[in-house]
Amino acid sequence: MSNKIAIIGGGNLGTAIAEGLMSSGFIKAENILITKRNTSTLKHLVDKGVQVSSNNEEAINFADYILFAVKPFQIKEVLVKLKPKLITKKHKIISVITGVWIKEMQELLGNNFSIFRVMPNTAIAIKESMTCITHDNANEEEIKFVADVFNQLGKTVFIEEKLMDAATVLAACGTAYAMRYIRANIQGGIEIGFNATIASLIAAQTVKGAAELLLQKNTHPEQEIDKVTTPKGCTIAGLNEMEHQGFSSSLIKGISTSYKKIVHDM
Ligand SMILES: NC(=O)c1ccc[n+]([C@@H]2O[C@H](COP(=O)([O-])OP(=O)(O)OC[C@H]3O[C@@H](n4cnc5c(N)ncnc54)[C@H](OP(=O)(O)O)[C@@H]3O)[C@@H](O)[C@H]2O)c1
Repeated sequence: MSNKIAIIGGGNLGTAIAEGLMSSGFIKAENILITKRNTSTLKHLVDKGVQVSSNNEEAINFADYILFAVKPFQIKEVLVKLKPKLITKKHKIISVITGVWIKEMQELLGNNFSIFRVMPNTAIAIKESMTCITHDNANEEEIKFVADVFNQLGKTVFIEEKLMDAATVLAACGTAYAMRYIRANIQGGIEIGFNATIASLIAAQTVKGAAELLLQKNTHPEQEIDKVTTPKGCTIAGLNEMEHQGFSSSLIKGISTSYKKIVHDM
């Protein structure tokens, strides 16, 4: 892959992307340049052959795909500074920044750049992200490249930009919801006899296996539930008690509350 990528903002997400792309072999280390103001935290990437800099202009000169991974409140200043150096025919813009709309970037950069807005989740660190992507002005080759980049780091889906807030809730907040579900399983597991270590292993691997069943067999959750529920058995008794206590309803209400918060307050 001969495209060069500059990652502006070598924090948690920026470094996870750089490491994932290198370890998958999709992009050679020498074709990645990553920036942050204090580069001392990026020594492990230098050791692997990645170029590291505190100079964003150097990154722009180096790469054709420019991936912005600074905090939301930092992006405006970064884009305004870089605008004179960005060339529409050369540079493609990728933003993983939560809550920053394509039109806001276009107000700063003009309408002629290929722009991608991307929403990964924290599982990108282990190349298991669910990444939602939307774009404007991009051609087929650019769309394929960006999809390929994030396919190295998990699964991808293209969505309309108006669904980006919903994607943030379901995929990014969703990691926290899943963790809380697993934690509750651990607490229950300890109550029925396991120590915390074994309960954690059983809970996490069971949830991983359940998710893989759906992903690999493309089945509906109820089909898989039917396979576990014996008439008058313990699974259906427990499941129904959870529903009487508001299990599904509380999850749906939580998702809806997160969505209202992101749309109205952020
Ligand atoms: N973490 C996630 O899972 C996740 C998921 C989806 C979206 N996001 C979005 O991804 C973005 C980054 O999140 P994060 O968790 O990686 O944050 P982070 O760890 O704080 O990383 C941001 C990095 O940007 C660097 N930076 C700040 N100003 C800069 C500048 N002018 N030039 C170059 N680098 C600069 C900072 O380093 P210095 O201070 O040394 O410059 C810092 O390392 C956020 O906008 C967030 O909304 C994150």
